[in-house]
Amino acid sequence: MDQIVSLCKRRGFIFQSSEIYGGMQGAYDYGPLGVELKNNLKRLWWKHNVYERDDMEGIDAAILMNRFVWRYSQHEETFADMLVDCKTCKGRFRADKLGESECLRHPTKYPGECEGELTEPRPFNMMFKTQVGPVPDPESFAYLRPETAQGMFVNFKNVLDSTNRKIPFGIAQIGKSFRNEITPRNFIFRLRELEQMEIEFFVRPEDAQATHEAWVKDHLDWWAEEVGLRREHLDLLEVLPEDRAHYSVRTVDIMYKYPIGWEELEGIANRTDFDLAMHSRDQDKLDLTPNTRAQAQALPNAHSTERLTYFDQPNNKHIIPYVVEPAAGVDRGCLAVLCEAYDEETLESGETRIVLRLKPTLAPIKVAVLPLKKNADEIVALAKSIKKTLQATGEMRTVYDDSAGIGKLYRRQDEVGTPFCVTVDFQSLEDQTVTVRDRDTMQQVRIAVPDLHAFIRERI
Ligand code: GAP
Repeated sequence: MDQIVSLCKRRGFIFQSSEIYGGMQGAYDYGPLGVELKNNLKRLWWKHNVYERDDMEGIDAAILMNRFVWRYSQHEETFADMLVDCKTCKGRFRADKLGESECLRHPTKYPGECEGELTEPRPFNMMFKTQVGPVPDPESFAYLRPETAQGMFVNFKNVLDSTNRKIPFGIAQIGKSFRNEITPRNFIFRLRELEQMEIEFFVRPEDAQATHEAWVKDHLDWWAEEVGLRREHLDLLEVLPEDRAHYSVRTVDIMYKYPIGWEELEGIANRTDFDLAMHSRDQDKLDLTPNTRAQAQALPNAHSTERLTYFDQPNNKHIIPYVVEPAAGVDRGCLAVLCEAYDEETLESGETRIVLRLKPTLAPIKVAVLPLKKNADEIVALAKSIKKTLQATGEMRTVYDDSAGIGKLYRRQDEVGTPFCVTVDFQSLEDQTVTVRDRDTMQQVRIAVPDLHAFIRERI
């Protein structure tokens, strides 16, 4: 992990937030290459989950929502971690993660292993609050959303009515969420400001179980085949009932083998009719499943103006669909991609080269155009024009670099995962050919300049 963190900072993938002021715990900034990697991952997800299916719509809901959303979703009551305090060092720790925490006075010991006495665990709600409007009265606050999901539930009717969808169909969303984690840690693994890629997929109750299993398989395959995570680094975990979120009757986590161990990359839950029912008025008139009924009756909705139902034409009745929810972390996805791609290779010369073996679709830069000599005007002019032509296609992020000798430039591009380096040399001026170097094999081939675009496009 230290090597990845160091590469990320050195080459402009990820920086600590507000670093010059000592940082901001649980927040990170994506730099020039990080933003490209992150956008590529999100684009790949959107393409697979929205564009390549016929049963999905996308939305982008606001982060600030009416606070009743969080009352009726029951996040106000239940979105909490258990917290313990050390009476001696005053440290605060997650009760279920003491084995991953350090005593503030004796960092080699776990909290409670030292002389300090720990308090009894108590719940700590992880939602951030912010004031809305200029008057700081106790009622004028909103939460920063802790999951993107609720934006999709409260827009269920809007999407349904505006698109004329029939179930099964789903809504997808990518966006920021905020959680006041007690102990943010492990670089971008556990953050306070994070990004999620979530789907709420609405089905007939009787289809929920099979749909759940289908999404688990689909997304496991996606991480392996399209994102390029090795199968042996991926696993499924059946989440135990006591570890499931309050809305879930079944959750399967897709786990990735990070350098810190096996950890959750994505959670896929069967949320039943819980959320749509909780956000509906007149719950007593709805045909709810028993687990939801118990919770909905405990909290009848006095504020919603809608019944979030679906008219099931074949059966001529209104139903509340069940929801299957694949929910992945963008940052955890980026971290998995970086861990997977990082390689230190010993060359025949005995030298080691660091190479990020990213899938070309995810690589921040697809092509680097390098002049063999930076003071040869004609070589520089040709290299710059090739850069411009490739970039203008809009298909491949292309950079020009002449800031070092060619060997060093290749190493730099290897380190950031650029799949192709195009070098313009003296021969290029005579026969309009360039060399194309492959990142993984380091082999070079000569290609005619007019064929370059097609050659690279085929390989990315
Ligand atoms: N709407 C369901 C939901 O939010 P979750 O399992 O709490 O479910 C989904 O979160 C995904 O979001 C996780 O699998 C993880 O990848 C990511 N995630 C959650 N908390 C995170 C945090 N503090 N930092 C980074 N990523 C996080």
